[in-house]
Amino acid sequence: MFNLTGRTALVTGAGQNIGAGIARALGAMGANVLVNDLRTDRADEIVEELRSNGVTALSTVFDVTDRLAIDRAVAAHGPIDVLVNNAGNGGAETMLPKRFVDTNPADWRGPMQVNTDGVLHCCHAVLPTMVERGHGRIITISSAAGTHGVGLGFVPYSVGKGGSLSLMRSLALEHGRDGITANSVALGIMDSVRIETARALTQTVPAGRLGSPDDVGSLCAYLASDEAAWITGQTIGLNGGSFTS
Ligand SMILES: NC(=O)c1ccc[n+]([C@@H]2O[C@H](COP(=O)([O-])OP(=O)(O)OC[C@H]3O[C@@H](n4cnc5c(N)ncnc54)[C@H](O)[C@@H]3O)[C@@H](O)[C@H]2O)c1
Repeated sequence: MFNLTGRTALVTGAGQNIGAGIARALGAMGANVLVNDLRTDRADEIVEELRSNGVTALSTVFDVTDRLAIDRAVAAHGPIDVLVNNAGNGGAETMLPKRFVDTNPADWRGPMQVNTDGVLHCCHAVLPTMVERGHGRIITISSAAGTHGVGLGFVPYSVGKGGSLSLMRSLALEHGRDGITANSVALGIMDSVRIETARALTQTVPAGRLGSPDDVGSLCAYLASDEAAWITGQTIGLNGGSFTS
């Protein structure tokens, strides 16, 4: 059960943190892992780590908003069996909180480009061969900011995450009969939060701890497996019991 031997998995933004956790989990299940990141140093470091653990891994550096670069990577390393759209947050930029009313339209593009357009492009680039081969797994790492909203000044991010949630639902409907599943994982509060706020935030989580890259990796490993063939079009909350409504 849960064996990905012979499958090629592309994990975007896998050069650190959550994406690296996903790459480790898929690699541990036998997948050949394509480690994408904007930054060569980050992707190379994770590839080296995976290889030292016996995983077949390759670095593939591109920006998920750059369609030509995605197409080149897919042509070089595909066909892709498993796509994990993990690159997100503010993309190359740090997200700074600002109430929506105080933003300029120009502030919206960055977070929306990486969290929605990047997911659209990566899906569109890998889908043709998934359809042709009658199999595929698409997983998008989303957020409670997409499912529930967030009142901390990150509206464009929230909208970007919401857009990709809708995309997964529609792809699930359009490709259900092609052997392709498309799901979102909506994360709660993760252990990468600033250390000063970690204790207070932990107290709000029913499970009593923050989420880790390993938690995300385990769920992705399951969703990527053949055994998860009947789970599609879902937004799965991975949050230690927070955000239940
Ligand atoms: N960390 C959290 O608390 C949290 C909570 C909810 C959802 N998420 C989501 O989880 C995912 C991973 O988050 P993280 O905290 O591990 O992020 P991170 O910022 O720590 O790492 C993201 C990686 O993606 C790369 N990247 C950024 N933009 C890219 C692009 N355009 N193309 C290719 N690579 C790119 C970065 O270089 C970086 O190495 C994101 O989609 C994020 O929105 C995170």
